[in-house]
This record gives sequence, C-alpha cells and structure tokens, in this order.
Amino acid sequence: MSHTEDLIARDVAAVWHPFTQHALWPADEPLVIDRGSGTFLYDTDGNRYLDGCSSLWVTVHGHGEPAIDAAIRAQLDRLDHSTFLGLTHEPGIRTAEELLRIAPEGMSKVFFAGDGSSAAEAAIKMAYQSASQRGEDRPLYVHCAEGYHGDTLGAVSLGGVSLFHDTYRPLLIETRMVSSPGVLAPGQTRADRAAEVLAEVRALLAVEGDRVCAVVVEPLVQAAGGMLTHDPSFLVGVRELCDASGAAMLVDEVATGFGATGRWFAVEHAGVVPDLMVVGKRITGGVLPLSAVLVRESVYEPFLGAGTRTFFHGHTYTANPLCCAAALANLALMHERGTVARAAEVGERLGAGLEKVAAYDGVAEVRRVGTMTGIEVRSVGERTGFEVCRAARRRGAIIRPLGDVVVLMPPLGISDAELDELLGILDESVREVVR
Ligand SMILES: Cc1ncc(COP(=O)(O)O)c(C=O)c1O
Repeated sequence: MSHTEDLIARDVAAVWHPFTQHALWPADEPLVIDRGSGTFLYDTDGNRYLDGCSSLWVTVHGHGEPAIDAAIRAQLDRLDHSTFLGLTHEPGIRTAEELLRIAPEGMSKVFFAGDGSSAAEAAIKMAYQSASQRGEDRPLYVHCAEGYHGDTLGAVSLGGVSLFHDTYRPLLIETRMVSSPGVLAPGQTRADRAAEVLAEVRALLAVEGDRVCAVVVEPLVQAAGGMLTHDPSFLVGVRELCDASGAAMLVDEVATGFGATGRWFAVEHAGVVPDLMVVGKRITGGVLPLSAVLVRESVYEPFLGAGTRTFFHGHTYTANPLCCAAALANLALMHERGTVARAAEVGERLGAGLEKVAAYDGVAEVRRVGTMTGIEVRSVGERTGFEVCRAARRRGAIIRPLGDVVVLMPPLGISDAELDELLGILDESVREVVR
C-alpha cells in the first residue's frame, strides 16, 4: 500500500468531510494535498495542480507567501493568543483600524469572529438587538432566494439555496424571502430583474417594514447559489428602501470582499454604504481563519449603556493575534502590490479567455464579476459539473462545481501565464464532457 493509499484508507475510516457525500467519496478518488507554493498545490504523489478555486475563494497572493509567513512567525514569538473578552492587543486594534481604512466611508466599528458563518451570525443578532435597544420591535429579516450566508442556523435562516437549506426549515427563525435578483427570465435584462425584485422588497416593506430589522444581501454576486450576478441598481434600490423603512442594510461581503470583484468591496460598484458589512475569507490572504462585522455608528450606539445593552456574543479565539498578524501582512501586501487593480485585470483576461467557451453548445451561460466566475454547463448526466472538474483535475487544475456551475476563482495574484494555463485546461475539460 502506498503512502497515499494508506492516508486515503485512514481518511475514509476516520473523517467526515464538509459538503461531501461519503457514499461516493472513496470512489471519487480523493486527492491528498501535501504542500502548496504560489498558485500551485501538490499531492502526496508529487503531482502539481493549479489552485483554480483559490482554496475555496481565499488565497490572495499565493500559497506560502513569505511576508505573511514571516509576520505570523514574528507574532508567534511575541504572543500566540490572549482572549479579546475584556482584554485587547495591538494586532487586533491595528487590524480593526486597517479594515475601517479600506471599508466604505461611514463604517465605524469592527467586531471580530472566526469564519464567515460566525460573522454572519453575529451581524444577524446585532441588527435585531440594535433595533430592539432603540425601542423598536423588529424581529423579521428580508433576504433573497439563492442567497448563502453560511451554515450556522441564523445564517441558514437567511439562506435560499434549497439543496443546502430546506432540510433545516423547521428549525429556523422567521424571515421573508424575495426572489433572486440574479435569476433572469428568458430575454430579461439584469436591470429589469433588479427592478422586479426591488418591487417585491418594496411591497413587503410597505406591509411589514416597521417589523423588519434588516434586508440581507450578497452584493453583486450570489456566489454559492451558482455565481448568480445582478445589476448594481439592486443594491442602490435596497439602500433606498432600507432608508425609507428604517431597516438596516446588511451586506455579506464574505465571498466578494478584498478584491474578488476588482474593487476592495462589491458595494463600491454601486456606490452604496451598508449599515452592517460581513467580511471573511481573503482577509488573511487565505492563511488563517478570521472574519468580522463592520458596522456604522447608528448600529453600534444603541449597545452603549448598562446591563442587558451589552452584545452578549463572542468566541474563544476572537481576534486571535496570529490571524490578525496574517491579516495585517496580507492587507499591506495588497496595498503595496496594487492587488485589487490587478484582480480587475485578471477578471478582464478571464472574460476574454472565456468567450470561446461561452459559445459552446454545451455551455448555457458564463457569468462573471471581476475574478468571480461561473460557467453553467448543460446537464448531460447526473453530475455534469463534477465531471468537468474531474476532467480538469486530470489535466492539472483544481476547480469545484456548484451543481452544474463550474466555478473559477483563481488567486488574485495569479500570473497571466498561469491564468492562460487554467483557461486552456477548462476549455479542454468542458469540451471533453459537454462538447
Ligand atoms: C457570501 C458568503 N457568506 C458566508 C459564507 C460562510 O463562510 P464560512 O464558510 O467561512 O463560514 C460564505 C462561504 O462561502 C459565503 O460565500
């Protein structure tokens, strides 16, 4: 038995993987990743793969970025961890300051969490408690079909992906769901679709607006819902409707934030400032888990005062100093290298390179904002998207499907040559499976 075979056998015996059907997992030839360098991952047999999904949408500059590694090591020599409950530390303070510096103007406080879901969960509770402590009874949330905000129960309550969320409906908090702004009728423009869904939000708020604490959206791209893209006018409209009804605008920038759309944050494309903004994923460059909720003063202020006004919420590893050191090093590098502008260029090159693929009969649609790309293939069997990704793996690239949507989300620091290699692999893999 080879080392790889031994590891796979032990994995099958001991491990339960996320979002993985274990009846299929052993036969799907699990890949055992051994190391990473730059844009590449290597398996235990020494094979090299382009990291075409940036390790689930997190890798910014590449794997093993020396400046981030050095910052973590230096922090480790000083302070590994100390609670953020009732104590503070410089890496946490500086990370909060840095986040506010790049955030849309008007955000004034940073609350740290660990993963995207835990930050979404905090934001959901904050929106309700903030309204409640202003003396308003607003127990409802408005959110979109095909939305995804994570897997904790509050986040699932605001989700709209049937496959992931329907199982848990009996357990969830009460919400009002509107249609997805990114699912178009045949021939419909994105601007018309945005106007149609805004009319749904308006109608809901007209009836129950004074009971809604937040309207929750993924700005510009509903990522896990299948890279469904919408018109920026949707965000402008949600902002206006929130202002009129007194509901908070809660945007989830976990997937879109830190350059993926070609701007620091997707809301910038619409010129909109939310009341609460959830961030995660790329914040540390893809090295360690860290997430946060950024809020405006109007959300924060009602928490000041004695007793139960406190936000009784937090996690053991909140603002872990090693994670903050990684975030600071990553953000400094992003400024130094102009990574956000580079991401916009990567997006343009992706778009041009995918024109040929978009024209294949087997491809229903290519959707893209910046580097965030979904190639929807026409189903030719049970797991068409998966088969395209498997074909890509044989050719040396790791990409992941969302149903029949093949997702490309390369590290923002990918070179032109590496991107062209990824596009070539995708093209051949699509032709192999759907023609
Ligand atoms: C928009 C959005 N929100 C929240 C999450 C959840 O983040 P995490 O997986 O870090 O909990 C994700 C994950 O993909 C996401 O895309």
